[in-house]
Amino acid sequence: MGKIWDYEKFKATARLAAAEGIVLLKNDEKTLPLAENTKLAIFGRSQMNYYKSGTGSGGMVNVDYVVGIYEAIADSGLYKVDQTVREAYEKFVEENPFDSGAGWASEPWFQKEMPLTDAFVKSAAKESEVAVFIIGRTAGEDQDNKNEQGSYLLTDEEVAALKKVTKAFKKTVVLLNVGNIIDMKWVKEVDPSAVLYVWQGGQEGGNAVLDVLSGAVNPSGKLSDTIAENISDYASSENFGSEVKNYQKEDIYVGYRYFETFDKDKVLYPFGYGLSYTSFDIAAGEFAYDKKDGISFEVHVANTGDTAGKEVVQVYIKTPNGELGKPARTLIGFDKTDILDKGQAQNIRFEIPKYWFASYDDSGVTGHKSAYVLEKGEYTVYAGSDVRSAEEVGTFVLDETEVVRQCEEAYAPIESFERLKAVVRNGKVVKEFEKAPTRTLDPNTKRKDKLPKASLYKYTGDKGYKLKDVADGKVSLEKFIAQLSDEDLCAMMRGEGMCSPKVTPGVAGAYGAVTDSLLGFGIPIASCSDGPSGIRMDCGTHAFSLPNGTCLACSFNEKINEELFTWEGLDLRRCRIDALLGPGMNIHRSPLNGRNFEYFSEDPFLTGKLVAAQLKGMHKYDVTGVIKHFAGNTQEFKRHTVNNVVSERALREIYLKGFEIAVREGNARAVMTTYGPVNGIWTASSYDLLTTLLRNEWGFDGIAMTDWWAMGNDEAGAPGSYQNVAAQVRAQNDLNMVNTSAGDNTNNDNLAEALADGRLERSELGRSAGNILRFLMKSPSFQHMLGNESDLDKELAEAVSAEDMALQEMIDVVADKDITELDVKDIKVGKKSTTVFCMTTPRRCTMDLELVLRADDQPDVAQLPLSVFQDKMLLKTVTLTGMDKEWQTVKISVYPAFIGNFYLKLYFANGGLEIKSARLIKTKDMEEEFQRGLTELN
Ligand code: BGC
Repeated sequence: MGKIWDYEKFKATARLAAAEGIVLLKNDEKTLPLAENTKLAIFGRSQMNYYKSGTGSGGMVNVDYVVGIYEAIADSGLYKVDQTVREAYEKFVEENPFDSGAGWASEPWFQKEMPLTDAFVKSAAKESEVAVFIIGRTAGEDQDNKNEQGSYLLTDEEVAALKKVTKAFKKTVVLLNVGNIIDMKWVKEVDPSAVLYVWQGGQEGGNAVLDVLSGAVNPSGKLSDTIAENISDYASSENFGSEVKNYQKEDIYVGYRYFETFDKDKVLYPFGYGLSYTSFDIAAGEFAYDKKDGISFEVHVANTGDTAGKEVVQVYIKTPNGELGKPARTLIGFDKTDILDKGQAQNIRFEIPKYWFASYDDSGVTGHKSAYVLEKGEYTVYAGSDVRSAEEVGTFVLDETEVVRQCEEAYAPIESFERLKAVVRNGKVVKEFEKAPTRTLDPNTKRKDKLPKASLYKYTGDKGYKLKDVADGKVSLEKFIAQLSDEDLCAMMRGEGMCSPKVTPGVAGAYGAVTDSLLGFGIPIASCSDGPSGIRMDCGTHAFSLPNGTCLACSFNEKINEELFTWEGLDLRRCRIDALLGPGMNIHRSPLNGRNFEYFSEDPFLTGKLVAAQLKGMHKYDVTGVIKHFAGNTQEFKRHTVNNVVSERALREIYLKGFEIAVREGNARAVMTTYGPVNGIWTASSYDLLTTLLRNEWGFDGIAMTDWWAMGNDEAGAPGSYQNVAAQVRAQNDLNMVNTSAGDNTNNDNLAEALADGRLERSELGRSAGNILRFLMKSPSFQHMLGNESDLDKELAEAVSAEDMALQEMIDVVADKDITELDVKDIKVGKKSTTVFCMTTPRRCTMDLELVLRADDQPDVAQLPLSVFQDKMLLKTVTLTGMDKEWQTVKISVYPAFIGNFYLKLYFANGGLEIKSARLIKTKDMEEEFQRGLTELN
């Protein structure tokens, strides 16, 4: 069998994926592509710090290398890059170093821009023909973007510098190295020749930019969000960012659904927009509507320009405004052509089932409450290269309103609020408001009525069955579970982490056989690691960093997403990790959500289809993604507690739809719930979300896990509590993440107590154990536990780099006393910093490294890991949280160093910790033992 792991192919796929996501917004007089040997001057301080991704759990991938934009251009040899300009930035950055903030979620979203003088820019314009100006932004967890300079808006310094450059140069190309869309009003004012969103492209991102600038790749990315003039133009803005409660009054009218229906003039760049270096003609072929199968038609895409390229065909529908209000356009299909040469054409066929364009009636106004319906009236289908310019390809009329799927009311709000509705008045669609319907079915009653049968899981004691017997079909899963004591079952509901020593070092979580008793039943222990842009291992181990979610969304390309995540699946296997905590797939309800960079789009169909493709990729190698955050996480501010009040219709059509597609089409095996509540119920304890919808309606049979340290509550409006894990298990949130030691119930959860007083049934624990075990039986960890090492495992083991240790700037220490103090001034505690001590121990002995640490003024939820290595081996990763405000003493045993020297490495993945003292304390003299061993050997 040939080799499967091919690092070079992985890189090439990531490079192409990042390039396919780049969106060209403006290209006056064919400024791009840049001819070979063009003289370039590169401006903008972001040339010195390429953002490969955002911050927080979605960005902490340790990598072998990152190719930034400047490096890619300069090293390509294709262009003559002005060194005087570069040197000026180098000097500026020396004097104004990158500000990475102090710890978790504190890196500023922008870095200070270098002011330019007219003389400097003019002299650069004499030397070079084209200016490239790079603008950067980051974003991340725990903080939203702000409609302020340095975040959503450009700073005055950036605008001033841009203006000077565009004035002096005939051609200026602006590259936006940002997580998701930013304000674009400046384009009109500054008027550069070309503007591109190059997003955060992962470790190959710079190369992707080079490919687009040079024309090696013709841009084919399309905006996955609408860019409006002002943030206040977005319908969500009025009800975004509250500390307590957001009424989602815009309802289903999110993004283009709002703008195309009510406010077209406010749009600067429509959803789906993006230019190419060539032009295309999209012509409709025969169109048909079938009562059973839905819509089918073909389009003919021809490259009418003069260079090869790909085009995205987007399909939208306008459904009749009947009893239910409807958006003017809804995306129901998309596809990308192959590379078409000049003059070449391709036919693309679309078959679109009715379910994708049915609307959900949450009030019964159509006569069909809790059903997906097609209302009577005229349906018009459009195809084209963005939402605005797509042209009609066919129409059909339904004489009667039709029920496409009858459902059960789920997760409806308990309080009414005014929601937006599109209504036709005098032949014109206008905005009106109506009362959102409220809940009529109590999920706690549903739960009581549908409890799993107690007899199925009645405790039998150990019958000698192992999990392998279930996998081999010798015993039923239920009989196997019946052997587990209440204590075993409670422990199984607890994931362990961060950096559990039981699994791959440095990962976020471990689950399954978290106790010796569970191990005894032949249950494996599996792992999961962040995140959407690649594997995060806090001990510093390297993995591959992928383009960010928004970039991959803008590719509008299912194939490249699947291919990229097939490689990601292999990276997971290589690192012996069963599940990636991603993709992140929340809806970009507002451009201000801090985690939009991880997420895909304002549109659920695009999100769902691409996530399904990514899952298919990972599933090829039996690993999977934990799709998150389920559901309705639309802001970072107060994410543990802010209540999003949203109608059932908007939930189903917008916020859940992507997840539904990922389950139905991508066969998702794992989901992560959010931190906060929706309609008064914390998602992790929502029976309707996790049982009525996810499992009963969509057919999901995998695991649901909480986000890291998340709350649950007993009913809508009741207070949330971190200890209320019983409420989570009742809802079928199977895993509460994460405990330091599951067997010891270190989070002090209420499982045992709730079981004893009847708030939780043993059968509910049994049912969740079943969900976990079914998942585990499909995991690579199960095979490893059984001793089945495949050829692929062996091949991948060889692909793990031995060179993980940073040996630069080593500090020599002689440990010749009973207590050896390390100078804490030598220890770098900043984000991603490594300190290596080269220890010399004249006498062989065992030692403890004793560290006294605390969190350095961090938010409570901050995760602050410190990994300690001896030589190349991880001794321990200690994770403090922002709550550890008092000094903590940590002791780590150091192995005897028989050759007299060893290295001790401290790695701070995220900074934010303060160290008071660090010392090595001798615990046992080994000299005699060592000498005896030597004598015996001789
Ligand atoms: C994030 C999750 C992440 C988890 C584990 C949380 O803070 O919200 O997305 O997977 O931490 O690191």
